[in-house]
This record gives sequence, structure tokens and C-alpha cells, in this order.
Amino acid sequence: MKNPFYITTPIYYVNAKPHLGHAYTTIVADVVCRYNRMQNKETFLLTGTDEHGDKVVRAAGRENLSPGAYSDKISRLFKDLWPELNINYNSFIRTTDPSHIKVVEYILNKINESGDIYFSEYEGLYCFGCERFYTERELSDGKCPDHKTEPEVIRESNYFFRMSRYQDWLIDHISKNPEFIRPERYKNEVLSFLKEPLEDLCISRPKTRLEWGIPLPFDDKYVTYVWFDALLNYVSALGYPGGELFMKYWPAAQHIVAKDILKPHGIYWPIMLKAAGIPVYRHLNVHGYWNVDQSKMSKSLGNVVEPLSLKNTYGLDAFRYFLMREMAFGLDSGFNEEALVLRLNSDLANDLGNLFSRVITMVHKYFGGIIPQTGPEAESELEGGLKSQVFAVVEEYEKAMESFSFHKALISIWEFISLMNKYVDVTAPWVLAKKKTSRKQLEFVILNLLEGLRTVSGLIYPVMPDTAKTMQYHLGQNPDNSFYDIKSLKSWNILKAGTSIPKSVSLFPRIDRKKDVSSMPEKKAGVLTPEIKPEITIEQLAKIDLRVATISGAESIPGAKKILKLQIDLGENRTIVAGIASSYSPEELVGKQVVVVANLKPAKIMGIVSNGMLLAATDENGCSVATLDRKVKPGTPLS
Ligand code: MSP
Repeated sequence: MKNPFYITTPIYYVNAKPHLGHAYTTIVADVVCRYNRMQNKETFLLTGTDEHGDKVVRAAGRENLSPGAYSDKISRLFKDLWPELNINYNSFIRTTDPSHIKVVEYILNKINESGDIYFSEYEGLYCFGCERFYTERELSDGKCPDHKTEPEVIRESNYFFRMSRYQDWLIDHISKNPEFIRPERYKNEVLSFLKEPLEDLCISRPKTRLEWGIPLPFDDKYVTYVWFDALLNYVSALGYPGGELFMKYWPAAQHIVAKDILKPHGIYWPIMLKAAGIPVYRHLNVHGYWNVDQSKMSKSLGNVVEPLSLKNTYGLDAFRYFLMREMAFGLDSGFNEEALVLRLNSDLANDLGNLFSRVITMVHKYFGGIIPQTGPEAESELEGGLKSQVFAVVEEYEKAMESFSFHKALISIWEFISLMNKYVDVTAPWVLAKKKTSRKQLEFVILNLLEGLRTVSGLIYPVMPDTAKTMQYHLGQNPDNSFYDIKSLKSWNILKAGTSIPKSVSLFPRIDRKKDVSSMPEKKAGVLTPEIKPEITIEQLAKIDLRVATISGAESIPGAKKILKLQIDLGENRTIVAGIASSYSPEELVGKQVVVVANLKPAKIMGIVSNGMLLAATDENGCSVATLDRKVKPGTPLS
């Protein structure tokens, strides 16, 4: 049997459509699977959707759908997106699958019978957005660090999982297996969390509060806490307890998550496994966030980028390349379309694309499109060429790929590509082609380049599978039969002399930012309308003081392109700063009646204290300030 390799993505909540953040994690899973297949391993990629819990109920309610019908709809979006991004998953699990529910019940019973579950009354600070209780020390300024809202005090009787029992065991396991959670910064984060006493985990929700969940098998007045249910997908999908897939793949399990869900995966999950008598996973691979303008890309902030839109604009492989090259796995990365265009033009169109078409064109020009013959004397010549470098490159690449340092793996390939470009310049085949006496040398040089490109096509395969195949085809190989195995990348002189190769191709067209991108219908490719924010009460709404104000003066601020300084009259005179300079000139604003938040805490913007905030809506055509239907007295409240 081949060596098994099992990789999972988080199962995504169905309360939002897939965005670039989800796509990144899932593409990483596909990349590592393809790489491991090159290493002759048998791979299994699991992804899916997390469908129970309060968040889903609320999102479904907003669309007037039942949670089940809503989950079907959103789950399908995820399921259909992945093949579009060339992600070949082996199984797509939904937590509403009956087979998953059975496993959750089985494990709950098992843990309950072994005495690790108890019933108790609890009063705590509960964040409805996160669907969990918070301890005081986990809050920042008394607020949920993710939702920035104050948690509510809730008192209820619930079932608890004795996590505290396993604290010492977990510390010991992490310390003895330094690669258990990686990169190291996240291992340290978990260990530092474990320095404080671990609280038991509340694993039930009363049905009176939440019905959309898996009923506890030992008390049907309760449903299972969504995390306890969701984490078990990693074993239920393999047919735990008895399934063949489970026996084969579980011992090789690795998870990929972003740092937002480090705690459930680094603490709850290993303890749940231990308590259920299942061996723990091998590695938890944790990456950082894709940010937009310094904030995490997320549907609640309304700054998400849609993967399909980027694929359609730039091409799938270019998009996959950018994600893998731009983010150092483990650290945050800013998403910026300008950076994407620069990278594609320099790395893909210039470095790789030009090299490839140059070499193939030379094969046609100097050898009639036939891979030239090498004599025994060629061998020694080739030794001194690119061959002497390539093995070190492959070694570095493997090291980087094994440790999830995809950007480093790509850097090592691109160093080799740059070496090949220099090799073309130094050997100048067009000069060699002029003299009959240098014919042999010309053959060696071209063969070196063809072998180098064959190696590159194999190395890029995990990240850019379509491009790898196109390259293989143009190197005279059958792209479907070509086996992208690492062994062939550690051998030289694989291409057969006498093979005829198809005419040159442009692998990556250059992107003219002005022409191609700004003429797109959406100016910011892929930015979606934000989701409706969580519900507030009428009392919370009443705290916001909205007033009508007349703009009495407006001026631009030197050095600040985006903002204007406004004088407003809202019964009293005030100064406010508004980020509307790209859509309004100061002159056209004077006299306009607008709506401002009058009781917002003053803030200093570019050295000016802004005493309130003007309301405006921004879409792809710029921003439009909120005005009134007819003139009213300045200072009139809006209600
Ligand atoms: N349902 C839980 C996971 C349960 S797994 C047993 C969940 N779902 S989620 O829809 O919120 O997905 C979170 C994951 O999506 C992150 O851990 C990460 O893999 C991916 N990302 C979502 N936004 C992201 C960024 N802005 N940047 C990087 N990854 C992001 O949590």
C-alpha cells in the first residue's frame, strides 16, 4: 500500500458565501495533496460545511428560509466553487449528514459513559456572535474580541466536558511533539494559554434557546454545542469507528486552519480525541489572515473578495500562484490587486512565460521543432550546465513544501528560472546558430533549457496544475499521462530526442492594468455587498443620535487626497472630517443638507478633530452622501 496522506480544511459556516479567505485554505489543501501525490502518496482531501447553530438560524431567518433549506443553498455554493478552482476534494461533508450525526451521538455517549461529561448550572458571559461563553480575561475592554460587542450574562443548566482533566496530558503532548502545532508561534500561543487552568467546556445548548443542532443522545432537551459537533467531522467523514478509510487515513491526519480557530483545534479537539480513545492528529497547520486595508477579510466587515471574479479576470493558475507566493504561511498578508498585477506581470509573464516561449521558439527555429539528439560527449557538457544546479533546487523545494512554506518553495523555483534566463543570455544560442562549428554546443544549450523547463513544469504542478500540463504538452509530453513525480524531477535527460514539439504558446499574457482592469464593470474586482449586521434592539438604536445638518463650509486638506474638512450647522456649529473627496468638490457641498451621527466620540483625523460623522453610501461608482427630501431645520433629529 502507498503511504497515506490525509488533509482537512475547516468546514465552513453556511452563514456566508465563500470568499478569498476560504479559497486560500482550500487551495492550500489541494496544493499539499498534489505535492504529496508527487511524493507517491495516496491522498485524501476533506472539506465541507458546518451547518448547525445560532448563526445559521439567524442567517436563514434573514432570507425567510428554514435553516435546512438555507444550509442546502449555501453549502452548494461551497461545493460547486472548489472544482472551479481546480480543487479536487475526495469528500465533502455536511454536519447535517445523517452519518455524521450518528458519529456525534456515538462519541457523546462514549465520553459520557467514561465520566467525562457532567451536568451543572452555569452563569457566564455569552457572545451570541461566537456562540460561546467568554471568561473575563478573554475579553478586550469588556467586549468580545471578534465582534466588539459586550457579551450578555446568561445563567442556565448545561452539560460540561471535563477538559480540565486533560490539561497536563495536552501540555506534555505538545511539548514532546514540537511539530504538533505549527508554525511554532501558534504552538507557543497554545502553550501559553495552557499556563492558566483550563475551564471545562459547555457542550450543550438548551432547546428552548436553540433547536437547530444535534440532540444530546442522553438528554433530548438539549442540542450539542456547534464546535463539539463540527470538530468530529474529521473522523466521521472517514467512517469512524470502523471504516476502512478511517483505519487507513486517520493515522496520517493533518488539519489546516487559520488562527481564528486555533483554540478549538489546538485545545478542544486533541482533548476530545484523547477522551474518546482516538489517537490525536499529526499536525495542525495554522495560517494567518488575508487582510484588506489592515482588517481581516470577513463578510461582517463587508470587505470580502470573491475568488471567481479574480479567476475570471486573471486566470486560475495566476490567482493560485499569487495566493501561494504572497502569503508566508503562518503570517498575515494584505490583499491588494495592484500587487497581484505586478506579481503576475513580473514572475509569470516576464520570467517564466517569456523564457518558455523563447526556448520553444528556438527549438522550432534551429531544429525544426524536433528535440535534438545528444551524443555521449553532450553528457559531460550538460553536467556543467543547469543540471548541476537543479538537484539543489529540488531539495530546497521539497524542504519548503514539507513545512508548508509555499512561498519559499516558489522562490526556489523562480531562482532557478532566473538562472535559466541568465543561461540564455550568457550562452546566446542565436550566436551559436550562426556557425556550423558550434552546432553541437547549440544542441547542448537547448537541451539543457528544455530539461530545465521540464523540471520547472513538474515543480509548479501543485500550485499551477493547468500551466504544468500546458508546459508538458509543449515539451512533447502527453500531459495526461505525464506523472508528476518527484523522482523524475531528480533525473535529467528524460526528454526523448526526435520528439516533435508543438509551436510556442504564451503561458501568461501581460496584464495592462489600465486597459484590462479599470475597464472591468466592477472597479474593485469581487468586492461584495456586506451582509446585514447582527440584530440590535430599539434601545440600542435609540442611542445613536442622527441629526440633519447644513454644510456651511467645505475645504480640502493639503496632503490628504481622500478627506474634506466640513463646517456644519446642526443647531450648533461643528467641524467634521469626511472621506468623500474623491466624489465631491468642496464647492458643490456648501448649502447641502446632510445626515450626521451627532453623538459619535470625537476623533482626530489628519490632525483635525472631527465632531461627528457624515452618512454616505459607497459603491463601485464612488460615494453618495445621505440627503433629505426637503429642507428641514438644521439640528432636527432623525427617528
Ligand atoms: N465552522 C467553523 C470551522 C469548524 S472546523 C471543525 C468556522 N467556519 S468559517 O466559515 O468561519 O471559516 C473559518 C476559516 O475560513 C478560517 O479558519 C480560514 O481557514 C478561512 N478564512 C476565513 N477568513 C479568512 C481570512 N480573512 N484569511 C484567511 N483565512 C480565512 O470557523
